[in-house]
Amino acid sequence: MSDAWRKYRPYPLIDLPDRTWPSRSLEKAPIWCSVDLRDGNQALVKPMGVTEKLRLFKLLVEVGLKEIEVAFPSASQTEFDFVRTLIEQDLIPEDVTIQVLTQAREHLIRRTFESLQGAKRAIVHLYNSTSTLQREVVFGMSQDEILELAVSGTKLIRQLTDEMEGTDIRFEYSPESFTGTELDFALRVSEEVTQVWGPTPDKPMVLNLPSTVELTTPNIYADQIEWMGRHLSRRDSTIISVHTHNDRGCAVAAAELSQMAGADRVEGTLFGYGERTGNVDLVTLALNLQSQGVDPELTLSNLPEVITVVSECTENPIHPRHPYAGELVFTAFSGSHQDAINKGMRALATRSDNLWAVPYLTIDPHDIGRDYEAIIRVNSQSGKGGVAYVLRTDFGLDLPKAMHPEFAKVIQDLAERSAKEVRPEDIWSEFEKTYLQSTRPFELINYSVATAPSDPDSVECHAVVYFNGEARMVSGFGHGPMEAFCAALIKAGAPHFEVLSFHEHSVNSGAAALAAAYVRISLDGKTRFGASLDANLTRASLKAIVSALNLCSVSG
Ligand code: KIV
Ligand code: ZN
Repeated sequence: MSDAWRKYRPYPLIDLPDRTWPSRSLEKAPIWCSVDLRDGNQALVKPMGVTEKLRLFKLLVEVGLKEIEVAFPSASQTEFDFVRTLIEQDLIPEDVTIQVLTQAREHLIRRTFESLQGAKRAIVHLYNSTSTLQREVVFGMSQDEILELAVSGTKLIRQLTDEMEGTDIRFEYSPESFTGTELDFALRVSEEVTQVWGPTPDKPMVLNLPSTVELTTPNIYADQIEWMGRHLSRRDSTIISVHTHNDRGCAVAAAELSQMAGADRVEGTLFGYGERTGNVDLVTLALNLQSQGVDPELTLSNLPEVITVVSECTENPIHPRHPYAGELVFTAFSGSHQDAINKGMRALATRSDNLWAVPYLTIDPHDIGRDYEAIIRVNSQSGKGGVAYVLRTDFGLDLPKAMHPEFAKVIQDLAERSAKEVRPEDIWSEFEKTYLQSTRPFELINYSVATAPSDPDSVECHAVVYFNGEARMVSGFGHGPMEAFCAALIKAGAPHFEVLSFHEHSVNSGAAALAAAYVRISLDGKTRFGASLDANLTRASLKAIVSALNLCSVSG
């Protein structure tokens, strides 16, 4: 057995016995800030050019993001040019504020301000790493030196802001690697920076406390956020922002619990792309809120379009099981799930409260522009409910309930033979082969029905039927066409059988409507369904009898 685990130490707990966040819930959307165009972009194998960034920026605006970190202007010419393009081409809507990131170094801060010339509004986001490990192994700097970097950076931003005319500059500070920083030191740096910036309740600053690397369970991050909120001396002038990465797979949980712990704002990307395992996924966070009856204040009603733009711009595909967005998330393969969804969907129609309540589906796929058609898919694990659902929704056939297991068995055999998912068109073609196209041993060629001359309550049926390819004229009497046809077949040599049930319905409405007929017969102690489709109801019912007889013969 490996002893790899011996290389690691547990993260210490936060001393906060009177923590309040566990009994809170999320009741409103946070201030959202997209970092797609900066944090997301910097982690792409092929970072976006100005064209892709513009396309994504427009999408972010359409989705309803009001704060968008658009670039790290001092990092490259493309980044700088992108900010210039937004400003010079007047592409920033009145209710949107762009945000730009800078390190705490003089020439980079100056270059950042240069990129903002002529902007109406902007958030300047200053960061420096405060992490214990990085102080030791990367910078070789003491706490005081790191603090000085942050403070001098803030002073310069203050000065350049005061000098800049016509641009409303707001300020954001991130003690980068907050989760790897001693809490009391993170507080000390934040307090000093705040002191220098001088925010007021009317003009608050953003204090972003990033989980740059996710190092703990989300409850510990929530404790850290609650602790910081309690200790900040200008809490009323500070917007606490969280920025979670997904190293342990809990970025969404960390962002949610930290909002319960007092965070006002969340930074993340659409679908969570970003450094290493990514940033927190804003779409998941927003739809999680929506699913709890909270207005997410983002427009995600056309998620397929959002997926297309993001995946094309970033060249990052969406995993098929990605929450809400994945191709398979509204799909049930298991028969019992399909059955439950099916029943849930029908039950919805009878609810008067307009609330969504369908087993296995946390939200209504229509709300995000997805279809019900994709909900039920069939593989060898699927049951009768799924097959019947596909026939009903895709082909308009409402099979009698007792017939479901019979045809589901046909499809299950097919799925097992092919070891693949069975698509709706495969189900249809198997239905046609099994019921509609069988001609052996019997095939109805034509028929006529008339009132019996000797008994006005009976009818006489004459038909031409192939018996194993040989045409025979048959005739018989009965109370209706079906009974008369059965009698004719038996008289002409077909095995003795009995009709147990008959169902019919029309398929499509209007002049082109077809009749679907389903007949269950018993023969030699076996029962089988037959089915047919025809423009004429009587012919449909006689063909369904032939279909059932043929199936009885095939199954021996
Ligand atoms: O993850 C992080 O800490 C960052 C900062 C620059 C905010 O992206
Ligand atoms: Zn980040």
